[in-house]
Amino acid sequence: MAASLQLNFKPFKPQFTHSISAPNKFSTRIRCSAATPSKSYTVTLLPGDGIGPEVISVARNALQLIASIEGIEFKFKEMPMGGAALDLTGVPLPEETLSAAKDSDAVLLGAIGGYKWDNNEKHLKPETGLLQLREGLKVFANLRPATVLPQLVDASTLKREVAEGVDLMVVRELTGGIYFGKPRGFGTNENGQEIGFNTEVYATYEIDRIARVAFETARKRRGKLCSVDKANVLEASMLWRKRVMEIASEYPDVELSHMYVDNAAMQLVRNPKQFDTIVTNNIFGDILSDEASMITGSIGMLPSASLGESGPGLFEPIHGSAPDIAGQDKANPLATLLSAAMLLKYGLGEEKAAQRIEAAVLNTLDRGYRTGDIYSAGLKLVGCKEMGEEVLKSIDSKVTAIA
Ligand code: IPM
Ligand code: MG
Repeated sequence: MAASLQLNFKPFKPQFTHSISAPNKFSTRIRCSAATPSKSYTVTLLPGDGIGPEVISVARNALQLIASIEGIEFKFKEMPMGGAALDLTGVPLPEETLSAAKDSDAVLLGAIGGYKWDNNEKHLKPETGLLQLREGLKVFANLRPATVLPQLVDASTLKREVAEGVDLMVVRELTGGIYFGKPRGFGTNENGQEIGFNTEVYATYEIDRIARVAFETARKRRGKLCSVDKANVLEASMLWRKRVMEIASEYPDVELSHMYVDNAAMQLVRNPKQFDTIVTNNIFGDILSDEASMITGSIGMLPSASLGESGPGLFEPIHGSAPDIAGQDKANPLATLLSAAMLLKYGLGEEKAAQRIEAAVLNTLDRGYRTGDIYSAGLKLVGCKEMGEEVLKSIDSKVTAIA
């Protein structure tokens, strides 16, 4: 049965802000051997394409280890999705994959897509499978935190003084807007020229519910919400702004501001520390979250959670399938590990288990391990597998650090 969470979720309070790298005086204590699991969860794993299977395998091992420590049990169900599913079944999201996802407590996705399927017709693209999955699970709220870890400040392309201390959350609307709006398609214009068209459309209820998630999120963070739109041009954005202002009256303790998306894109690299929580539509959120990720040093670091009103959440790194490095053991598994942490926290309410993963990621970085995307001179360059093994060691050695 799916956890009936979701909008009561305990909003994201980055665990990264406290120091957990200090040596733990109890760390030599031997942990109790695996307790009988008190709770059992079904987790659907969708490794997908490219580096997806590599990073999912790391996350699976970490979850397994956490389970033995916490006395919980995971029943993993691995299902095909994206290009892998296309090759196997002819569709990017097979019916069995969607129903397994719906029947589980949480879904962890690697990445989808690759050159091989780039020229497929739209309904046979891996990306279409992902959109169908989001729609099928009704996960309209996509949380994408971008936190600059002290260990990785120098991996950012921005100057230290600009990047240091950035800790923001993009709340992206995920099941509406131009990604899903109708009419859409191809046609011919009055001059006989071929056209492609899409529709940016939002209904009141869609804006209201994402606004509430964003206000709740901001309230549990630093109390600042910036709504990003293009209300100087687009009707859908005009309604967006009107509704966000309306919902704001329910949250007098949250400071609301509005920003046009072009300005927001500029402000994100000019002075990202001005942002706490950002709420925006589907396509602006897609773009701004990639931009925000680079402030942190690498897109290979950023997790995400997609939540609905009920039913399982979908958790995935925000990076893509990186076909150029697939199968070469070069991928950074940390975004997927942190997505697994979000799964534990938001999807299953297993806060302590989530903290274990976050702590272990930080500890592994503290010990100098880096994949290529976050490497700088003098540190230990490792591949995906070894990074995963080091994180497991950190989980193991920190067993008693989290009471
Ligand atoms: C993302 C991705 C997807 C999106 C693609 C793969 C459909 O870019 O999750 O950000 O556009 O939402
Ligand atoms: Mg994207």
